[in-house]
Amino acid sequence: MKIKSICCIGAGYVGGPTMAVIAKKCPEIKVTVVDINEARIAAWNDKNMDNIPVYEPGLGEVVAEARGRNLFFSTDVDRAIDEADMVFISVNTPTKTYGEGKGQAADLKWIELCARQIARVATTDKIVVEKSTLPVRTASTLKSILDHTGSGVNFQILSNPEFLAEGTAVEDLFAPDRVLIGGGQTEDGKRAIQALVDIYAHWVPKDRILTTNVWSSELSKLTANAFLAQRVSSINALSELCEFTEADINEVSRAIGTDSRIGPKFLKASVGFGGSCFQKDILNLVYISRSYGLNEVADYWEQVIIMNDHQKRRFAKKIIKNLYNTVSGKKITFLGWAFKKDTNDTRESAAIYVADLLLYEQAHISVYDPKVKAEQVYADMDYLNSRSSDENRKYVEIVKDPYEAAKGAHAIALMTEWDEFKTYDWQRIYDNMLKPAHVFDGRNILDKQKLRDIGFQVHAIGSANE
Ligand code: NAD
Ligand code: UGA
Repeated sequence: MKIKSICCIGAGYVGGPTMAVIAKKCPEIKVTVVDINEARIAAWNDKNMDNIPVYEPGLGEVVAEARGRNLFFSTDVDRAIDEADMVFISVNTPTKTYGEGKGQAADLKWIELCARQIARVATTDKIVVEKSTLPVRTASTLKSILDHTGSGVNFQILSNPEFLAEGTAVEDLFAPDRVLIGGGQTEDGKRAIQALVDIYAHWVPKDRILTTNVWSSELSKLTANAFLAQRVSSINALSELCEFTEADINEVSRAIGTDSRIGPKFLKASVGFGGSCFQKDILNLVYISRSYGLNEVADYWEQVIIMNDHQKRRFAKKIIKNLYNTVSGKKITFLGWAFKKDTNDTRESAAIYVADLLLYEQAHISVYDPKVKAEQVYADMDYLNSRSSDENRKYVEIVKDPYEAAKGAHAIALMTEWDEFKTYDWQRIYDNMLKPAHVFDGRNILDKQKLRDIGFQVHAIGSANE
């Protein structure tokens, strides 16, 4: 079966970049990305590539090449579904904020709406692909909805989870470690799997395209994120021990990571992991495990989140303690707000939680981030609902220049590992600040000795306090 037309529901951080790369690599396939968010679709169609809604290195070029040729962004969801042979579902699956499973289970409301919409408008057979990260066994829910349309349309359901990381999405999509495709083991199921394999085979070597049953694929995605996050929590746990023992976490990471069985990646101590997925996916894994009565399994994975929350709180406490146990009325400059470098995404960024704890102690916060807009910082603070949005605007200011942001500050808190922070004129920053001037390096990227030579008091994650 040869796919001629694809529809992707959801034009977010996954749908947009993933479909742009498929369209670039498969010029004979028409790819339409649809969303109910009109502003987002308008931004994807913006002539100026600086205005597309997702910032990712290299993404503008890929979109510019394919858009208008075989890549389209639209709000006409029904039409795109009906035209397509293959429909990807790439909508958000956040943690539930209400009812049964509140705070842990994935909210599948948007997934179900998509399935119902596909069932309602489809007039020809379709392969429906789960691109969103979903609890294991969601495909059976989709199947149940799709098979009860009464329209005689045949649906095959595949799971094709996405493993891209933000900030490196384009390179991850161009050269993935693996593509995972789970599907039914019937003849029709195998044909559907092959149709999707053929799409990726345009640019991904065949030995990197793994096929499994649909449940293995769904569960592998959740657990891949859990394993990655577990490494970060493990190294962050050790970072606290380093601060009491004069061991240095960078040296410990290097020493651990050179064991080829362990490997060097994901061993960078930090103020805590953020992003839209690690926390939500682990909470979901915890919820699923508990729902099968597997309490030891659930407790084991929950500890990864407990450690991460501790790391964020501990960083805020470190700031307060070193500023003589009070930050009331003091200005603290945040360098970075995004949850990692090279993205404008701030979902679950550690910066939001550290800011909240400092505001609770009546600090004033000045934020500089190279890619995050002021309204996003305020939206993040307002979302926490800890204080009124007027108070957030009064005590948090967003500044467009890092040297300006540091003026009159008692401390710098480095929250995101943007490369540009390493190249700053730190003497100039020091000159702009109140003395003693403190730097709290939440990413462990600055040259501690150089900063100390300038006169800063330096407090880095995972090395002993001075
Ligand atoms: P997102 O919030 O950026 O995008 C989702 C989009 O879906 C939104 O624009 C929303 O308006 C749209 N949408 C929701 N319901 C819709 C409907 N019924 N019809 C049309 N559009 C609808 O989310 P994201 O970061 O792209 O994540 C999507 C999924 O991919 C999630 O399940 C996530 O866990 C998974 N994932 C994300 C990443 C990542 O790096 N962000 C990586 C791998 C997997
Ligand atoms: C992560 C996974 O890496 C992707 O494979 C997956 O597809 C994606 O989640 C998803 O399902 O959403 P992402 O969250 O975009 O990608 O970014 P990561 O590079 O994994 O970083 C996550 C967080 O961990 C960031 O806050 C980062 O700063 C932190 N981190 C990462 C560390 O603190 N230390 C490290 O060594 C690595």
